[in-house]
Amino acid sequence: MKQKSRHPQLAWVLVLRFLTLVFWDVLGVRALDNGLAKTPTMGWLHWERFMCNVNCQEEPDSCISEKLFMQMADLMDSDGWKDVGYEYLCIDDCWMAPERDSDGRLQADPTRFPGGIARLAKYVHSKGLKLGIYADVGNKTCAGFPGSFGYYDIDAQTFADWGVDLLKFDGCYCDSLEHLADGYKRMSLALNRTGRSIVYSCEWPLYTWHFHKPNYTEIRQYCNHWRNFADVNDSWQSVKSILDWTSSNQEGIVDVAGPGGWNDPDMLVIGNFGLSWDQQITQMAFWAIMAAPLLMSNDLRTISTQAKALLQDKDVIAINQDPLGKQGYKLRKEDNIEVWERPLSNLAWAVAMVNLQEIGGPRFHSIFVASLGKGVACNPACLITQLLPTKKKLGFYSWTSTLKTQINPTGTVLLRLESAGHVTLHQKTSFKRCTTLS
Ligand SMILES: *[C@@H]1O[C@H](CO)[C@@H](O)[C@H](O)[C@H]1NC(C)=O
Ligand SMILES: *[C@@H]1O[C@H](CO)[C@@H](O)[C@H](O)[C@H]1NC(C)=O
Ligand SMILES: *[C@@H]1O[C@H](CO)[C@@H](O)[C@H](O)[C@H]1NC(C)=O
Ligand SMILES: *[C@@H]1O[C@H](CO)[C@@H](O)[C@H](O)[C@H]1NC(C)=O
Repeated sequence: MKQKSRHPQLAWVLVLRFLTLVFWDVLGVRALDNGLAKTPTMGWLHWERFMCNVNCQEEPDSCISEKLFMQMADLMDSDGWKDVGYEYLCIDDCWMAPERDSDGRLQADPTRFPGGIARLAKYVHSKGLKLGIYADVGNKTCAGFPGSFGYYDIDAQTFADWGVDLLKFDGCYCDSLEHLADGYKRMSLALNRTGRSIVYSCEWPLYTWHFHKPNYTEIRQYCNHWRNFADVNDSWQSVKSILDWTSSNQEGIVDVAGPGGWNDPDMLVIGNFGLSWDQQITQMAFWAIMAAPLLMSNDLRTISTQAKALLQDKDVIAINQDPLGKQGYKLRKEDNIEVWERPLSNLAWAVAMVNLQEIGGPRFHSIFVASLGKGVACNPACLITQLLPTKKKLGFYSWTSTLKTQINPTGTVLLRLESAGHVTLHQKTSFKRCTTLS
């Protein structure tokens, strides 16, 4: 109390922070009420790396089969993935037999999944993991397998009976916007009626954008996460186009994300072939800033120790999984460097700076810390830790100081700013006015 009266400025800062948080909460939109995805889903999804490979004769190690998923389950359990939060092992398209069974139920391809999905789910559960599956709102899946149109209740019940824990519901072969919206809602209600807790991953807005701007308020009431933009590919061009799309549309999508419902910029392709090391760091940092589901699509049997360490970085995962659940946004672009920031719990902030100049070497970038975190992150001071590309403590920064960083071409510097509003005045005198990082 005494301190407050001696530092009216500090009191004002605290009031400002409080108002900022209240304002955000007012914008909160009701989420799908299934108790799931309170933080973004973490796991593995086969599509980007293994696609629709059904040729088990010639490529037994990379075809879509129960063996592939059992091997991934073993590794998620034994190689530390589960321990840092990667929990959902997810099947994408091409798991089905070409026809439904005589009762109209979906069935797994009998040669590639001889034990069926129920046995696979049991195996995955025995490893302390959860199983995800894939289906489609229209008449066929994107790869041409049976669609769920007309079968929403039967399919939801089939998945629940098998012990499935997540459904990725695609939007191919759907002939109208009415069928699309109606189908996504019906499947959500059908999953609820099974009584089983099943994360519901939608592609509803992606397919809606072809016609008009999606109603995200409505989508959030039915889905736990939703894809907005094209499939990710194993290329920098693709990762960059996702970041561009997200920042161009941030006014419409950032505020709708929160516990229970998230924007999904698609899979992490870290550990594959197309991204340089700096670009892999960029993907990891920005998927954390965007509060994105972290669904890796890579080969856990052969992944490099470097990529594994990046994907298992606990400090970066903590930003992604921050319980406040506010998605970050682009703050500005200046001289081909973009600065994004994300509010975190306990008045902390994450800041990512990406160098989009694809020529030359590392570039210096200076930033007034007063410009970060709505002007309150470092008021009166903050403790800054660099998390990527390598972890190092940068120290205390007062509100008037400048932070200088060095960023590789297509690389990112990810920072965590901890509020230091509580430090006493004599400590403040030792704050750095300007620090160089090299
Ligand atoms: C189904 O929805 C109701 C009401 O929205 C909710 O209370 C319940 O937990 C849901 N059940 C499941 C299994 O998601
Ligand atoms: C599925 O096909 C039937 C028959 O052609 C058609 O009437 C129906 O509208 C289609 N449904 C969707 C979602 O495309
Ligand atoms: C979006 O959906 C919500 C919830 O269903 C509804 O209240 C609102 O009117 C819709 N907004 C628009 C612009 O259609
Ligand atoms: C990935 O590649 C496909 C086809 O090659 C393309 O349609 C899609 O737009 C690409 N995605 C991104 C995000 O660039």
